[in-house]
Amino acid sequence: MLDEPIHQKEYLVNGLIQTWDGPVQEVLSPVMISEGRDANPFLLGSYPLLTEKESLEVLDAAERAYSNGRGEWPTMPVEERIRHMELFVFKMTDKRQEIVRLLMWEIGKTLADAQKEFDRTVEYIRDTIEALKDLDRNSSRFVMEQGIMGQIRRAPLGVVLCMGPFNYPLNETFTTLIPALIMGNVVIFKPPKLGVLLHYPLLEAFRDAFPAGVINTVYGDGQAVVGPLMKSGRINVLAFIGTSRVADILKHQHPKPHRLRCVLGLEAKNPAIILPDASLDLAVNETVLGTLSFNGQRCTALKILFVHRKISEEFLEKFSQKVSSLMMGMPWEQGVQITPLPEPGKSRYLLDLIHDAEALGARVINEKGGEVHGSFFFPAVVFPVDSRMRLYHEEQFGPVIPVAVFDDIEEPITYMVQSDYGQQVSLFGNDPQQIARLIDPLVNQVCRVNINSQCQRGPDTFPFTGRKDSAEGTLSVSDALRVFTIRTLVAAKNSTQNKDLIKEILRGNQSAFLNTDFIF
Ligand code: G3H
Repeated sequence: MLDEPIHQKEYLVNGLIQTWDGPVQEVLSPVMISEGRDANPFLLGSYPLLTEKESLEVLDAAERAYSNGRGEWPTMPVEERIRHMELFVFKMTDKRQEIVRLLMWEIGKTLADAQKEFDRTVEYIRDTIEALKDLDRNSSRFVMEQGIMGQIRRAPLGVVLCMGPFNYPLNETFTTLIPALIMGNVVIFKPPKLGVLLHYPLLEAFRDAFPAGVINTVYGDGQAVVGPLMKSGRINVLAFIGTSRVADILKHQHPKPHRLRCVLGLEAKNPAIILPDASLDLAVNETVLGTLSFNGQRCTALKILFVHRKISEEFLEKFSQKVSSLMMGMPWEQGVQITPLPEPGKSRYLLDLIHDAEALGARVINEKGGEVHGSFFFPAVVFPVDSRMRLYHEEQFGPVIPVAVFDDIEEPITYMVQSDYGQQVSLFGNDPQQIARLIDPLVNQVCRVNINSQCQRGPDTFPFTGRKDSAEGTLSVSDALRVFTIRTLVAAKNSTQNKDLIKEILRGNQSAFLNTDFIF
């Protein structure tokens, strides 16, 4: 258990950790603690509920640090920015244990997954540094074309507002925040509603590793602190992982949306299609992982299964058995797979989805499916699901697994064509001809076709994006460096006078941009 509640009073603005003595938001853990006969959510602590005033002060600080691209950070040589980032990652690794513990207590992530989230994030930062060195090396040369010489690089965009999701509060936030920073932008970071306190141990590292105002934090109600930022028109990039509903609100708040670059990771309803010749044990293992890792609370989770009628009975029997054997328990228990759900009201929502499907002829087919104990929800396999039911269309983002049966492959394909989402699909089968025939149309529906494997984001060097309502912009270690920058160049006609001038600038190492230094 945590020794005592963490009452965070501080926020980071202009390189200073300010103390807030206004209203706070209590943080209740999804983990319930028995008190006599009752079980109540454990009080984890609290965080500041800042207002428009502090939010705009943070924005002023960020703008000052950027100084219209003339600030210390955006004009700093890449090698120096890398050194700041290395200092940050060094300080961050010291906080592993605290952050892992908070990931378990604040969002109910298992110990193994919490450790993985932390380690994967550190690795992401290190890979980002390497990718930037590579990018810089490739840009450290002149291009000669049609009598013009030019040096082309990527330059920052300005003030970036970073908002991550509750399910990967550290990792997904940092996959935007880190590349945004290292490329010379300045950042305002607002943690998700759930998963705030786990960032608290990093506040000092942020302060000490970066120049004043380069990274700032805001906390509180989105309408109160994010609305004014967007309405100010002074946010240049919105990096947001969450729902398309909120993304639309934020975008529309900006008075000049054409000036706003958006990097968005939104909803998904990734299907798995299980063909008649699939290796059943493998398909069962992968689809259980795909539907239920972190209780199904992954944007990449498999959120509907389409099983061919020929094998549906056998598949469902094995699948339900495996689901029912999953261990439910506290996040720190060894081997645990099903943990408490952090979103208040989530069990009610999931039960509503099940009742809607039941009213239309489906039923929960696994033992204990849909049982609720406090904040625990035992995974429910719902079958047969069809297009009249909410579970067929809505992203449940939780431990309910709709299963539909199909006779003709056109049925799941039509589902994908008509879906509002377009992130990934998993195909299970062994016939090369049939798999090949499916790959070609499906790559035009989604952005990753997984063969005999669950859907997932990693490895982080692979492009991660989606079509339709699922994403805007592409993230990967190297793509992220691109989305937070714009290509800009210095060019000159190839005259002796210009060559001499440029040579002189290079020789004197007088510009960070116009420079042929090679980062080793
Ligand atoms: O929630 C979406 C995450 O980016 C998924 O990442 O597939 O590695 O769990 P993952």
